Amino acid sequence: MSAQIDMRAVNLHKHFGRRFVLRGVSLDFPKGLITVVMGASGCGKSVLLKHLVGLLRPDRGEVWFGSTRVDTLSERELGMIRRQIGFLFQQSALFDSLTVRENIAFPLREHGMKDEKLIEQRVMRMLDLVGLTETCDQMPTELSGGQRKRVALARAVVLEPRVVLYDEPTTGLDPIRAEVINELILKFSDALGITSIVVTHDLVSAFRVADRMVLLHEGKVLLEGTPEDFRQSTAKFVNQFLKGEVGPDELARIRASGESNARAHP
Ligand SMILES: Nc1ncnc2c1ncn2[C@@H]1O[C@H](COP(=O)(O)OP(=O)(O)O)[C@@H](O)[C@H]1O
Ligand SMILES: [Mg+2]
Repeated sequence: MSAQIDMRAVNLHKHFGRRFVLRGVSLDFPKGLITVVMGASGCGKSVLLKHLVGLLRPDRGEVWFGSTRVDTLSERELGMIRRQIGFLFQQSALFDSLTVRENIAFPLREHGMKDEKLIEQRVMRMLDLVGLTETCDQMPTELSGGQRKRVALARAVVLEPRVVLYDEPTTGLDPIRAEVINELILKFSDALGITSIVVTHDLVSAFRVADRMVLLHEGKVLLEGTPEDFRQSTAKFVNQFLKGEVGPDELARIRASGESNARAHP
């Protein structure tokens, strides 16, 4: 495994009013790997992602992107960083008044790309990656929920970022559509060499895509390791979490599936 770290959170603390959400979160996100961050609803997963792109500032602690410290940057400097970090928001809203093509072109135009031919090439390459080239002239409202999610994914990676943050990418999708998204996350990771951070409480998806897993609990990292570490963990809360999220039958299946869920690395 490469020891190179693309993003790093160091001792992050964040509170809102009387609610202490992050209470000393330190995490390394290794280059080219898929790290899945799990935890109960409301435990601070989205808050953590927002710190990584400077949408929220910590009370204490540091965020690093490569050798750049992120949490102290000005808004203008953050623009440079955000260009290299794709973000699939939990509510991945597309612009309803723009075609699929223009939705995906949007970040390119926003970052000053003017060459229409180049824009078209990039947009079509992304649509090809997500298997939706034929929808390029359609409006988002004409698409299914799963298709909209895929367009949002294409938009999140169109700037060819170094890192992509996915916030609950499979939530609300049926298992088949969720699997399409899982495959895309794996494909982006391989085809584009992207460092991926996936926040989810969908454990099937988590075990499907993860190289590394993190479990947040009460504002801290409770467990960090390989999917195998998680399957074998005997820690009470880890077990409760896994059981609570997927039910005993599914958990038995995840535990039993071992290698088939692990991702092969060259
Ligand atoms: N901007 C904000 N202002 C106040 N409270 C917030 C804000 N963002 C998140 N919170 C609170 O922080 C906690 C963690 O939220 P979040 O990170 O969205 O949870 P989740 O793990 O489900 O993604 C919740 O209690 C939420 O209400
Ligand atoms: Mg969330």
